[in-house]
Amino acid sequence: MTRPIERSISVVREAADWAPSSWQQRVHTQQPVYADREELTRALAQLHDLPPLVTSWEILALKQLLADAAQGRRFLLQGGDCAESFDDCSSPLISNRLKVMLQMSLVLVHGLKLPVVRVGRFAGQYAKPRSTDMETRDGVSLPSYRGDLVNGAAFTAEARRADPQRLIRGHARSAMTMNFVRALIDGGFADLRHPEYWDLGWVEHSPLHNEYRQMVDAIGNSLRFMETLAGEPLSSFQRVDFYTSHDALVMHYEQALTRQVPRQWGWFNLSTHFPWIGMRTAAIDGSHVEYFRGIRNPIAVKIGPSVTPDQLLRLIDVLDPDNDPGRLTLIHRMGAGKIETILPPLLAAVKSAGRKPLWCCDPMHGNTETLGSGIKTRRFENISAELDRAFDVHGAAGTHLGGVHLELTGENVTECLGGARHLVESDLARAYKSTVDPRLNYEQSLEIAMLIVRKRGGITLG
Ligand code: PEP
Ligand code: CO
Repeated sequence: MTRPIERSISVVREAADWAPSSWQQRVHTQQPVYADREELTRALAQLHDLPPLVTSWEILALKQLLADAAQGRRFLLQGGDCAESFDDCSSPLISNRLKVMLQMSLVLVHGLKLPVVRVGRFAGQYAKPRSTDMETRDGVSLPSYRGDLVNGAAFTAEARRADPQRLIRGHARSAMTMNFVRALIDGGFADLRHPEYWDLGWVEHSPLHNEYRQMVDAIGNSLRFMETLAGEPLSSFQRVDFYTSHDALVMHYEQALTRQVPRQWGWFNLSTHFPWIGMRTAAIDGSHVEYFRGIRNPIAVKIGPSVTPDQLLRLIDVLDPDNDPGRLTLIHRMGAGKIETILPPLLAAVKSAGRKPLWCCDPMHGNTETLGSGIKTRRFENISAELDRAFDVHGAAGTHLGGVHLELTGENVTECLGGARHLVESDLARAYKSTVDPRLNYEQSLEIAMLIVRKRGGITLG
């Protein structure tokens, strides 16, 4: 869908005052400091010549799906690790994460009666924003760990050095992850008629097992019924699409993968389908917003509790000047205690300005807490309360909540408290694996999908 007028405006705008490197003239935040600039330049030159990870066709197809979600015709399920690590680029971890997302989407499709857009926080989610540049332990201060794309987690001077070679390794690990996900999906792993492919070892012992089984059986019956009517297997059930997203934090990396492609105008970030701007890097005059305004991908921004309606409207003007369907997703992450007071004025301002972003709720990042023991966790009850309230707040404002953004894993970890198995503080020590934020485990993720269905199930949105 090409709109000639938008096309000519955008070309003029890009040529006049935007380039993949124009972010370099703005204030940078959360960027690694590379001691050896020449080493960085060499690594970036190499990265620049490596093939991209995704294509412009896929990016534009996703943009259309997100436009549908903004209008209530689809639901966005975005999820994955807080941060991937290079060591976790392994077959079981990738396929288990995929299984959870597929199971959740099956629950959502069944309950919401809407197609689901699946977007992973993976194949490039290797960089993390940090609250301080330095970390001090026992009187020793070293640069903070910024994710495997930048440095190592071990508390040694060597590991914490920002290493440009990690940019190349990050690209390679992202490509391996993408390749495996694509191969699984093309090979029939996501076939809706075979949900048993997505079973995880402990599913049958889960308190949610019966409810999930009933949905699987109901879907199986409807698919068989439709195929009987059609008189042949329906190929559209054999595969689902999967897209990737990450926090596009390390600007040099993103710039090196920003490309022009034949028969398309403008620039695409070809490191991922759907990059987002984190809450700490969303300053209107900062380097991230400058970079994002010029790429053609659908983009998202995390909106935290300190954003004012006026700031939000200015941000939307810069990032989506043409009110282009599917272009902009606003991911609010307020916290269960704040969402009911902070979100309504933002929704009202955006609505009365005639803006139609895709609204998505991240019920994770506003609900992080540190226990007396020093462990970082999130309470399931707060996560589910924020999500539940998000639907109500949007309902009251006359806007539409079209997606959810979650940190989750297919592993049986114990990082968030509560959920169907009522995890308590003493359980956390058992299987706490995250080096960054606490994630929902398999059961807690499925429970969130069921909660969404209970909240929205059966409601058809126009
Ligand atoms: C994240 O998504 O891991 C994150 C750091 O989120 P936010 O930018 O919303 O704090
Ligand atoms: Co996180």
